[in-house]
Amino acid sequence: MDIFDAIKNRRSVRRFEDRPVPEELIRKIVEAGQWAPSACNRQDWKFIIVDSNEVKERILKETAAYFIGKAPLLIFVLYSNRTDNLEYKDHLLSAAMAIQNMQLAAYSLGLGACCVNNLPIKSRLRKILNIPRHYDPVALLCMGFPKAVPGPLKRKEDLDGVLCKNCFSFQDDYPGVDIKLIVKRIIRFIYYRLPASLKKLLDPVARKFEKKFDK
Ligand SMILES: Cc1cc2nc3c(=O)[nH]c(=O)nc-3n(C[C@H](O)[C@H](O)[C@H](O)COP(=O)(O)O)c2cc1C
Repeated sequence: MDIFDAIKNRRSVRRFEDRPVPEELIRKIVEAGQWAPSACNRQDWKFIIVDSNEVKERILKETAAYFIGKAPLLIFVLYSNRTDNLEYKDHLLSAAMAIQNMQLAAYSLGLGACCVNNLPIKSRLRKILNIPRHYDPVALLCMGFPKAVPGPLKRKEDLDGVLCKNCFSFQDDYPGVDIKLIVKRIIRFIYYRLPASLKKLLDPVARKFEKKFDK
């Protein structure tokens, strides 16, 4: 498969066929993650596959990303947070490199994947998955054989809208104080910290606000 075709045609898949992903493909995909570049070549990622319904249930109680409940395969990507480069958070970038490798590998193997950050608050995810403090859960990749494959997505800007030379020479359209964003941040901060029982009660409201993507 041509690398540019894969980059341009891969889409986030959120609806999956009801059949498991063979172990051999899972191992190939995680291996693709392991071959990503990493800051100082630390290669300090860990991958947790969740196939237990009980663990899935505990995660689902804490998130409004309901589609993950129907994904045949969940892979949590973790990276050691013992970095000295806090300025650039190079551990998160290293994990992100692995995640995109895995998404492209999944695509090339006929699987669909979606990176998910709408997850339980890290402290609770740590408890559920028994993650030690020196590893950060960075994202979840849910995967499976796609039920519906969305078509290619247009870019919001053409290349010259995002590319410049020598200094930032774009029109700065920062709105100043962005009240909407501040409110959204506060709501998310509070929602993350609510007990699972209260989240359950708020389920119908949370479902309304969960961003809808083309299905
Ligand atoms: C860091 C990151 C976090 C994401 N979190 C979520 C999420 O919580 N829920 C979700 O449905 N999609 C999530 N996505 C998928 C994006 O919505 C998706 O990549 C975007 O809409 C562009 O679509 P495409 O991947 O098909 O090109 C996430 C993607 C990234 C890169």
